[in-house]
Amino acid sequence: MKALTVIPLQAGTAALSDMPEPPESDGPVLVETLAVGVCGTDIEILSGEYGWAPPGEERLVLGHESLGRVLQAPSGSGLAEGDLVVGIVRRPDPVPCLSCSVLEWDFCRNGMYTERGIKEHHGYCSERYRITPDFAVKVDAALGLLGVLLEPISVVAKAWEQVDRVGGRAHWAPETVLVTGAGPIGLLAALIGVQRGLDVHVLDQVTEGVKPDLVRDLGASYHTGKVVDALEDPDVVIECTGVPALVFDAMTNVGTGGVVCLTGVSSGGHVLDVDEGLLNRSMVLENVAVVGSVNANRRHYEAAADALAKADRAWLERLVNRRVPLDRWQDALQRQPDDVKVVIEVNIP
Ligand code: BGC
Repeated sequence: MKALTVIPLQAGTAALSDMPEPPESDGPVLVETLAVGVCGTDIEILSGEYGWAPPGEERLVLGHESLGRVLQAPSGSGLAEGDLVVGIVRRPDPVPCLSCSVLEWDFCRNGMYTERGIKEHHGYCSERYRITPDFAVKVDAALGLLGVLLEPISVVAKAWEQVDRVGGRAHWAPETVLVTGAGPIGLLAALIGVQRGLDVHVLDQVTEGVKPDLVRDLGASYHTGKVVDALEDPDVVIECTGVPALVFDAMTNVGTGGVVCLTGVSSGGHVLDVDEGLLNRSMVLENVAVVGSVNANRRHYEAAADALAKADRAWLERLVNRRVPLDRWQDALQRQPDDVKVVIEVNIP
């Protein structure tokens, strides 16, 4: 079967490969892939900066944001032929650590987890894949291809859960949120903020194109420029860029008792000339909390499915702005100015 593969840590090795049918060891549910979303992590893997092939193999099948249709499922699995499903990305470590043993693999303590399409386990960008029922999340058939947004929104659902849990250390009634970055993660974080009835502000660099409109059409406010000018003392900041200067500004400009949740992954090697004393002073004197958040467990996928179901379909359609067939996968990776979420279509005539 055809699959989009890469030799991890070697740039320029992506290829449409002929791979064996998915191994039975991946699970009894056989799924035909319909679509795979492309995100920053995929671009990093393709650039040779991240990613691990399965042990003993040279190539890794890409794709961790997926949507597929069940071809075969054992009776009693809760899944049936024709169901639309999204595969969870992470698998618990085999030890398992304290977190993985309670199915909170997103908090894996020993780093021995695997991730489909990223770390030591083939991804979903192949014509078919296999999975165990507990790692396949059913999506509402009415969502159609938009179900491919479930994985990115699960990451954001986890981030919001972190905000709630950290905020809940004291009386917590947030009203305002600043989201930095209007990429798919930022826009989906803003969507959940609006669904929660918060006053949502989104900061990005671009002044035109679809992103400002997508933000405004959510009922949120769009800003360019500096964090400090976008919104004074927000209760919550969801940082979705990983840009070091923005991360620092987010931490120093959040309101008293506020929570900053970092979701963007920065590359190392950026040394900022910052006033660490000021950062420490404002964090201590204002009870500021900064929390990092990665990945998602099944609870977050389920919260994400609710958020997607409540969202305006036409708005979600605009988020998925480009669909490219698998045979033209190179086009999907070529960033275009108005790209928000690009998906590769598999098994779609
Ligand atoms: C994925 C997460 C994953 C992280 C780190 C992100 O792009 O959405 O599921 O844990 O990359 O590998």
